[in-house]
Amino acid sequence: MSDGHQNQIDIARLQREIDELSLISENPPPVVTRVLFSEADLRAREFVKKLCREIGLVVREDAVGNIFARWNGSDDDLAPVATGSHIDAIPNAGKFDGVVGVLGAIEAIRSLQRSGFSPKRSVELIIFTAEEPTRFGIGCLGSRLLSGSLSLDRAGTLRDGEVKTLEDWRKTVGYENQKLESVRLKPDCYCAFVELHIEQGPLLEKENIPIGIVEKIAAPSSIRIELTGVGGHAGAVLMPERRDALLAGAEIALAVERAALESGSPDTVGTTGVLRVEPGAVNSIPCRAWLEIDLRDTRVATRDAALKRIETAVAEICRRRKITFALDRLNVDAPALCDAKLVQAISDSCDDLGLACKRMISRAYHDSLFMAQVCPTSMIFIPCRDGVSHRPDEFSSPEQIEKGVAVLAGVLARLSVDSI
Ligand code: GLV
Ligand code: MN
Ligand code: MN
Repeated sequence: MSDGHQNQIDIARLQREIDELSLISENPPPVVTRVLFSEADLRAREFVKKLCREIGLVVREDAVGNIFARWNGSDDDLAPVATGSHIDAIPNAGKFDGVVGVLGAIEAIRSLQRSGFSPKRSVELIIFTAEEPTRFGIGCLGSRLLSGSLSLDRAGTLRDGEVKTLEDWRKTVGYENQKLESVRLKPDCYCAFVELHIEQGPLLEKENIPIGIVEKIAAPSSIRIELTGVGGHAGAVLMPERRDALLAGAEIALAVERAALESGSPDTVGTTGVLRVEPGAVNSIPCRAWLEIDLRDTRVATRDAALKRIETAVAEICRRRKITFALDRLNVDAPALCDAKLVQAISDSCDDLGLACKRMISRAYHDSLFMAQVCPTSMIFIPCRDGVSHRPDEFSSPEQIEKGVAVLAGVLARLSVDSI
């Protein structure tokens, strides 16, 4: 670090905590899997809440499990400044996605406390429920409900693997006494939200720049398709008679790739990340298949055109193969524009520390996408090795993390005495 920074970051302690949290996982190391409300997710929540309480933060949880940990400021009348991220992890993930923004924020607060700083505005850490879409097919569940972007009716229809509803899960984990409608944040409840996160892309590392400041978050969408064909004996049913649900799914996956490649924009990305078949026996024709498709672009019109093309292809493929289908648009979101003054405040904090920074677009989505609908929002990115994320070999070095945390601490300190 340069000599310019005032708040000493205890990076050794933070790294130990990141390592310890990574061991709370559904899979053995180095794999991190923490699906929403799994035993590992629940234990990870306890781990983080304990760290928050140890430093005097006041912890509460809402009806969907978003955790709020507040460092009380001296002026209750001022809207708090918020930071945070997530600790759930997709299957076969690494240990930094989301976690750097949660444990890093705790260390940022500790560093401010050690320096004798006392906030005027409260500083609130938010640990969002289910940034990852693994359980319900929809990402950012907690922040969608906080911002009102997900209606309560729609939340009521969410199911995991067609079995358990969100309401079932709220009962299982003990949030049923609070009403889901109480999750929605009041207007003006925060003066700003800033999220520290690994870049999940290669640019900062390639350009050897320690800090990225996010100006825009790309527009995500996802759809789930259920395909129903006709099963049968793999030896007995001749090829012209078949109505194989998996083969329709395979054609759809190729149509997704084509729609992204031919959108006219290098920023369109399409992924069929889930393909399940029934009955899943080698000598039985697949009678049912489920696909989950993720499609994004920085420009909403381009993304929407590609989405339309995929949906047209689904109808054509299913007609030709005599497959019935149900297509559910799980989410079709707008991009988010970050707040220019907050971007400037992050840039000023980098200047204070003598750190170079670069303004950039986030291609991944984050809870910031929805917090941007609530209050001025931006993100601090740090490099990660080879841009790798959503894999066990995801890595950011202690030095890279330390710089991100120092910038976050600077921004929180700045915003907790001033407005932006
Ligand atoms: C977040 O995890 C994303 O898929 O962008
Ligand atoms: Mn992720
Ligand atoms: Mn993340």
